[in-house]
Amino acid sequence: MLNIKTKNYDIFLTNQNSLLINKFISKNKYSKVFILVDSNTKKYCLRLFLEKHLNGIKIELVTIKHGEQNKNTRNLYLAWIKISKLGGDRRSLLINLGGGLVSDLGGFVASTYNRGIDFINIPTTLLSMVDASIGGKVGINIQKLKNQVGLFNHPRFILIDTSFLETLPKREIKSGYAEMLKHGIIFDTKYFETLSKLKNIDSNFNIEHINCSIKIKNKIVNKDPKETNLRKILNFGHTLGHAIETHFLSKKKSKRLLHGEAISIGMILESYISHKILKMPFAQCQNIKKTINDKFKKITINREDSKSIIKLIKFDKKNSGGKVFFVLLNEIGKCETDIEVPKKTIIESIDFYNS
Ligand SMILES: NC(=O)c1ccc[n+]([C@@H]2O[C@H](COP(=O)([O-])OP(=O)(O)OC[C@H]3O[C@@H](n4cnc5c(N)ncnc54)[C@H](O)[C@@H]3O)[C@@H](O)[C@H]2O)c1
Ligand SMILES: [Zn+2]
Repeated sequence: MLNIKTKNYDIFLTNQNSLLINKFISKNKYSKVFILVDSNTKKYCLRLFLEKHLNGIKIELVTIKHGEQNKNTRNLYLAWIKISKLGGDRRSLLINLGGGLVSDLGGFVASTYNRGIDFINIPTTLLSMVDASIGGKVGINIQKLKNQVGLFNHPRFILIDTSFLETLPKREIKSGYAEMLKHGIIFDTKYFETLSKLKNIDSNFNIEHINCSIKIKNKIVNKDPKETNLRKILNFGHTLGHAIETHFLSKKKSKRLLHGEAISIGMILESYISHKILKMPFAQCQNIKKTINDKFKKITINREDSKSIIKLIKFDKKNSGGKVFFVLLNEIGKCETDIEVPKKTIIESIDFYNS
């Protein structure tokens, strides 16, 4: 089992059975153990989890519907009520078994129920293994605004078992891969090159790559836990990526994009903007575009889409005072934050993506 230490908690990485949680529960003498699942992780992950990691311990299940639209106040309320009805108290433990929806909402439930109970994260998507479950951000969406309500709080530990990836759809695996590429692009050229060369992005994901991504995210978060400066670099590709994600959410189902898919387009656009504004070599910008286009389905962003995407940028809460600030690259592996970008360069970057 690999063990990554962070300032506040440990991350364990394995594909084997473990007694870690059993031991942790006995040691801490929890009054009750709750497991939060969504309808898919209940179906695909719960049995595996109980067999491999939680032998003979009585649990209470809290289930929410799957899908980003359920990361809302209604489910927050339903989870509080369910835990309360089942006798949850200050000495209860919440286990978040699922992707980013479950760890974000569950982390918020645990941080607020009875003024805060312990929680642990068991991420079941690649995206949550390398990103969402780590770093202490928890919260929910309100209306169109993603992650608008939340706080910083850490799990007691995170257990990553890569066997959960076996039931995860390939499209979801690629969505997580996009965030891994981002880690390479902003922080580690060699890692970016290694990931670019991968032939198949599927459930046999190399545990060493997951380990590498976690270490990069962890290094960044440790230096700046509350996102006052360095942590902002994790938002590379996200200023435009979020706007693209939101724009296509209002379209018919076949046009909607997963988070990582939208972010991968955002990274192409923001690489182009980096070339224009910070003079990142054009060859590197093309390299990023080629890597992403080789792995992800290309979409077309027409004039109507562009207009709506640009309008949506201002909703990104990281932007203040009506101005739009970007994380841009000097070169692959090195970036700068808080750079203002004119609208015309954003439009050009969309043309670059379409070309
Ligand atoms: N807190 C953070 O720092 C942070 C960082 C990045 C993303 N996020 C959040 O994470 C969320 C996205 O995370 P996600 O991509 O994991 O989405 P998700 O939790 O919605 O999971 C994606 C889909 O896969 C299903 N699923 C999960 N595990 C499965 C498995 N093993 N087998 C089969 N199906 C499975 C889910 O039910 C869902 O339908 C967003 O809400 C985003 O805002 C948070
Ligand atoms: Zn992201």
